[in-house]
Amino acid sequence: MDINNKDLQFNNMPQHIAIIMDGNGRWAKKRLLPRTMGHREGMKSIKRIVKACMELEVQVLTVYAFSTENWRRPQNEVDYLMDLLIEFLRKELQEMHENGICIKILGDYKSLPRKCVDGIEEALHLTSGNQKMTFNLAINYGSRTEILQAVKKLGQEIRDSRIDIDNLTEEVFSSYLYTDSIPDPDLLIRTAGELRLSNFLLWQIAYTELWITDVTWPEFTRDHLLQAIGEYQQRDRRFGGLSHQKQEGQNVKSKNT
Ligand code: IPE
Ligand code: IPE
Ligand code: MG
Repeated sequence: MDINNKDLQFNNMPQHIAIIMDGNGRWAKKRLLPRTMGHREGMKSIKRIVKACMELEVQVLTVYAFSTENWRRPQNEVDYLMDLLIEFLRKELQEMHENGICIKILGDYKSLPRKCVDGIEEALHLTSGNQKMTFNLAINYGSRTEILQAVKKLGQEIRDSRIDIDNLTEEVFSSYLYTDSIPDPDLLIRTAGELRLSNFLLWQIAYTELWITDVTWPEFTRDHLLQAIGEYQQRDRRFGGLSHQKQEGQNVKSKNT
């Protein structure tokens, strides 16, 4: 496989990559274009990155497309984003299905305009049996809303004695989130340089590696993705423990003393 000599280790690929696709507006502004043109250009990046992740055999790709806070934007921009979602599904659904991609939605999609709900449900039903890669589209997604709805559902089940509070583990709690049965992201990419999470996957990214670039989303290419993965592979993921080397060193030391 051509990976542009980036020397990636195929036994150390992130299983799940999540992306905060930011900077569409700034991309457009720099070119004296309306913000909406930035969103349109950003759609091409989604296509590019889905294809690259397929080739790299990444199992799960999650993209943040519309947050629960993005409703605060001008109505014409919100409308444009909703239309773009429908256009994206209409144009890409068949090919994604043929490539074995399973589309999932993270977020409260049922309160989107009717035409979006219909398009989304068609995509969910068509691709539900696919197993090559999972593509999570975070739409009308907010991590706090996600956690709150999980707490409410759990509370109801505890009240109805369907779940014993003593059996409530992190794993059980996770299963009430939109990401039920999806592994946590290994790598979180944010484009356009902001150093914040903007209400994205707050529970799930507890031990995710972060990679932030100043490159805006419409400019983000396969090469940037390879660079992010390359740097991810250099990280020492300790999960609060010690790195292998240090652990080995300690074992030797404790054996000798
Ligand atoms: C990200 O680009 C896309 C969405 C949030 C929908 P922005 O529209 O936030 O672009 P900037 O941050 O204004 O440049
Ligand atoms: C985050 O980008 C949400 C998405 C990429 C969909 P924003 O542009 O909404 O984030 P803030 O407002 O800069 O935090
Ligand atoms: Mg933004």
